[in-house]
This record gives sequence, structure tokens and C-alpha cells, in this order.
Amino acid sequence: MKALILVGGFGTRLRPLTLTLPKPLVEFCNKPMILHQIEALADAGVTDIVLAVNYRPEMMESRLAVYEKKYNVKITFSVETEPLDTAGPLKLAEKVLRKDDEPFFVLNSDVICDFPFKNLAEFHRRHGKEGTIVVTKVEEPSKYGVVVHKPGHETLIERFVEKPVEFVGNRINAGIYILNTSALDRIELRPTSIEKEVFPAMVRESELHSFDLEGFWMDVGQPKDFLTGTCLYLSSLAKQGSKLLTPNSEPYVHGGNVLIDPTAKIGKDCRIGPNVSIGPGVVIGDGVRLQRCVLLSGSKVKDHAWIKSTIVGWDSTVGKWARLENVTVLGDDVTIGDEIYVNGGSVLPHKTIKANVDVPAIIM
Ligand code: GDD
Ligand code: MG
Repeated sequence: MKALILVGGFGTRLRPLTLTLPKPLVEFCNKPMILHQIEALADAGVTDIVLAVNYRPEMMESRLAVYEKKYNVKITFSVETEPLDTAGPLKLAEKVLRKDDEPFFVLNSDVICDFPFKNLAEFHRRHGKEGTIVVTKVEEPSKYGVVVHKPGHETLIERFVEKPVEFVGNRINAGIYILNTSALDRIELRPTSIEKEVFPAMVRESELHSFDLEGFWMDVGQPKDFLTGTCLYLSSLAKQGSKLLTPNSEPYVHGGNVLIDPTAKIGKDCRIGPNVSIGPGVVIGDGVRLQRCVLLSGSKVKDHAWIKSTIVGWDSTVGKWARLENVTVLGDDVTIGDEIYVNGGSVLPHKTIKANVDVPAIIM
């Protein structure tokens, strides 16, 4: 089987992290975001993956060559000269997607869940229509694409409304699809939105069904949601009894759901958890308190720092007795001085912070 992952866009909502790495390469729970998807696709028997990119492909190419071998999949880059939005890239990759004339998967690159590819393909073949989109329920549907079903129908879609201004329902597009090759006939090679043009056209002909996702789901394309997604993913690992999590019997683990790379070093008398992800080469001093936070590779947290709801960027340093909270994001190689308080906001790469940040701010 084949899949196309939409990897375009500048990932502006995940700055400052995306100033350093393209969004799909930013580690989510110690694994590049896109690797979560590649692993799940390979696991479901997908052998050909197209990455639709319009931004810094050279950086992705070298990293992905490694995964090609590891997961035994063929990864090709389809590079846009102008951003083609969410449908145009399918037309650009038409030749690969039409191979075998079999249905293919399409994914947004920033969604995290228990990917249901096998069941999705089975369901899609059973109903026999042109497309199936995975849907999930959310509390606040206005920032997503919303699906409304035909009365009396569980899965046949009657309306697809992208970013509705008024409430039309709470089952939303999870950003995962399977489409027949005939869907490519509906798309021209120009910037085109799959959500605003292609899905509504399919809906008018009763060719689009939905598939309900079980378990957690999150679009992790912005810091607040990245942190929420981290909690959901770690809870899901815990529920599955995953050996990846650090056991609660470790004296510093507090409340569980703690993922620590084996190369990280933890000092004495720390309290870590719940919901913490610690990357490779991280060094944590004594008496440090971490909860609901992400420490990316090579970062350093000095003695008695207190960190909550924060993403600490690669190779950054947090000083002694510093306190970070309220969705703070440190870019790559940031230094937070001793005893400094940061109350939310973003710090751009290579900055040193020597004064308190009392209200959320972007620090350049
Ligand atoms: N190749 C390419 N070219 N990819 C693009 C382009 C482009 O011009 N523009 C956006 N993308 C990719 C993004 O990288 C992302 O993976 C995906 O298309 C969706 O774009 P987002 O910018 O993340 O959209 P969104 O989050 O506002 O909304 C979409 O996702 C929601 C679920 O998270 C829509 O599909 C909604 O309907 C959906 O509910
Ligand atoms: Mg998104």
C-alpha cells in the first residue's frame, strides 16, 4: 500500500522550535513526529511513502534515508515550488499514488493518535465509496474541519465544514484519510484545499464516509496542544503497560507517565512527573521538580529548578532555583539564569534570560 504525508507549511505555530527543525522532525515523546507515522504505516503494510514538502527538504532527506532502511519502506519526496495547500500535493504525486490503482492513505503530519490504518482500510473497502476520513470527538470544534452525517446514517457524510464559525457538530476531521485513485480526477495541479473543495464535492455525490477513531487524538502543531498531546500519549503508553516508561518504583517518579531516555542523567532528590518526557543526553541536577513538561535532547536543568507546562529546547540550560510554567517554550540553545521566573511565552534560539518574565511574551 501507499501513503502521502502532507509535510508542508512553515510550522509557524510551533515556533520557536520550528526555527531550528522542520515540524515533522521535532521530537514528540523522544521520536520525530513523522517517525510515529512512518512506523505505524510500515506496521500496517505500507511500502511506499510520499512526503509532500515545500520547505527545507534537504534537512529531511538525510534524516529520512536512515528510516527508509530501518523500516524497509520506500520514501520519496514530492517537492512543491509553490505551496499547493492540502489537495494540490496529491495531484503532484499522482504518478506514485496511481500505481496499482489501489486506495492510498493521506495524513496531516502533525496528528498523534493510535493510528488505525488496518481497520480503516478494511472499513473503506467494505463500504466501496471513494473516500473515508477518520473522525474524532472534540470539545472545541471551531479550529478543525467538522463532519455532519446524513440523518439516520452512522458513517455517510452529508456536510463537511472547515473551521466552522457556528456550531454544526463536534465530530471532526482527524487529518487521516484513505482515498480511491478516482479522487485524483477531482484535483487540478494548483493550490487547492482538500477540506474546502475536494471533500465538499465528494460529499455532494455521497462518496465520503467517516471512520470513528478509538482512544486519544491530538493535533500537536502548537505548544499548548503539544503539551496536552504529550500527556495523552504518555497516558496511553501507561494504559498499555509499555516498558518504555520509567517504572513508578524509581524514587524520583511521581504520579507516573514518565518517559526518560536511557542516556539522560538524573540528580538526587528529584520529583519527576506526572507526564514528563526527557530526551537523550539531558542532565538534571539535584532537587529538581518537573511536571507536565518536555525536555528536548542535550538540555540541562540545574539544581532545584521547578518546571511545569514547558518545552525546553535542544541544548538549553535552566538555572538553579529557576521557575518556568504556563506554556513556556525555550528554543534551541537558550539560557535561563539562576532564580529567574518565566510565566509563559516563547524564547527564541540562543537567547540568555537574566530578568524575570512576569507575563507571557515572545523574547527575541
Ligand atoms: N505539502 C504541503 N503543501 N503540505 C501542506 C501545505 C502545503 O501547501 N499546507 C499545509 N500543509 C500540511 C501541514 O503541514 C499539515 O500537515 C496539514 O497539511 C494540515 O495543515 P494545518 O495547517 O496543520 O491545518 P489545520 O491543523 O489548521 O487543519 C487541518 O487539520 C485538522 C486536524 O488537525 C484540517 O485538515 C482540518 O480539517 C483538520 O480537522
Ligand atoms: Mg494542524
